Amino acid sequence: MKHADIKNVLSNADMVGSDVVVCGWVRTFRDSAQVAFLELSDGSSFCKLQVVIDKGALSVDAEATKLGASVAVKGKVVKAYKGEGNELNASEVVLLGKCPAEYPIQKKRTTLDFLRTIPHLRLRTNTFQAVFRVRSVAAQAIHRYFHEHGYYYINAPLITASDCEGAGEMFRVTTQPWNASYKTAEDYFKEDFFGVKAGLSVSGQLEGEVAATALGKIYTFGPSFRAENSNTKRHLAEFWHVEPEVAFAELPDVIEIAEDMLKYLVKAVLEECPEEMKFFDTFMEKGLIEKLTHVANSDFAVCSYTEAIAILEKENARFEFPVHWGSDLQSEHEKYLTEQVFKRPVFVTNYPKEIKSFYMKQNPDGKTVAATDLLVPGIGEIIGGSEREADLSKLQAAMSERGMDRSAYKQYLDLRRFGTVPHGGFGLGFERFVMYCTGVENIRDVTLFPRSVKNIM
Ligand code: 4AD
Ligand code: MG
Repeated sequence: MKHADIKNVLSNADMVGSDVVVCGWVRTFRDSAQVAFLELSDGSSFCKLQVVIDKGALSVDAEATKLGASVAVKGKVVKAYKGEGNELNASEVVLLGKCPAEYPIQKKRTTLDFLRTIPHLRLRTNTFQAVFRVRSVAAQAIHRYFHEHGYYYINAPLITASDCEGAGEMFRVTTQPWNASYKTAEDYFKEDFFGVKAGLSVSGQLEGEVAATALGKIYTFGPSFRAENSNTKRHLAEFWHVEPEVAFAELPDVIEIAEDMLKYLVKAVLEECPEEMKFFDTFMEKGLIEKLTHVANSDFAVCSYTEAIAILEKENARFEFPVHWGSDLQSEHEKYLTEQVFKRPVFVTNYPKEIKSFYMKQNPDGKTVAATDLLVPGIGEIIGGSEREADLSKLQAAMSERGMDRSAYKQYLDLRRFGTVPHGGFGLGFERFVMYCTGVENIRDVTLFPRSVKNIM
């Protein structure tokens, strides 16, 4: 059906006077003696198009005026009678699809909790349309940032035999059920599709390192999977992961890239989604625009893990999990640091090696690794990264300490055998970034069909 986008009809002054067809869903209908008004949304813009119906000249099927009904409207574009932009004087309203009264998206019942029960319809609301427009703009900005900075876009495999984070949080990929004829797990996996135990990748990093140690600067942007049993507002079983990996980069370089990238993305969202951001500032998080503008224009803090623990230990009374040197930071500690102490994004660096992954570069102190997490107010960890261990024997030792099967990582070890170089990178949780930009507090509300423990609607 040839038709114009509402976004264009609304804002393009050149269209005034022209005859167009628009298509969309009815958001509101107001009736008076001589004229009626239909508000239409087609998803193209935050603002709706007002369709003016001269009742003397045009009679409209009542079904075409019901909330949620889909219609095509032919008419003339005119300057809006009130306010800015254009509206449409209808000459014909065609009902495309009826929408009966049990339509669940009613004005009074639109709490996020309720909308989560109808993921297939919740995108018809302002909130979700705004979230997904921001998400789309952010995704484009990610590709643009890396492209402009000379990175190559790599697609890492999603099915893998190696567990990157070494934390055993992989979903299994298999085509065969277990039966009693398999005596051992090895027996069983030998018969399975790949002949070895396979799973869904938790990160594209290991393959990213393969590419970076040949192409120099690369990034991946795709789904990662975590079979974590954490039913929190910031964990998904399937999330989108942005992972740059850079040859000849040490920890300070990794931090610099992460900060520069994040600021670029925040600016892009502020510039390209002004209407959406105004909406979120009003309805989701007061002061959001000011907060993000500040983030985009000021330096992030950097603090070592050891310093962070010294700060947190003094406040142990307030935490559910008191900390000491060696403890992993929980969400409550991360939030305290970034919200109460630094009041801005903070890179925590040089964590104890015991609580971080095998691949991280071991520092000369023998106790810490050159890792960094970026913590932001409201969310906590949004980025995790590190310089990688480039020394073959040190890497082998770290794997042995963790009881890892080195034969499964032969290719990864080869990168250290043949022309090893310092290199590093990080992973940004894309949904956590969208939460940060929109003020949406639950990760399930920035994801089309969120997957989490006991939830696959
Ligand atoms: O800290 P993580 O586990 O680091 C890695 O996977 C590294 N291999 C990344 C790298 O260096 N290339 O994950 C990175 C980020 C986290 O900071 C978080 O934002 C996000 O990925 N993330 C999740 N987001 C949603 N749901 C989950 N279950 C997540 N797990 C991690
Ligand atoms: Mg992490």
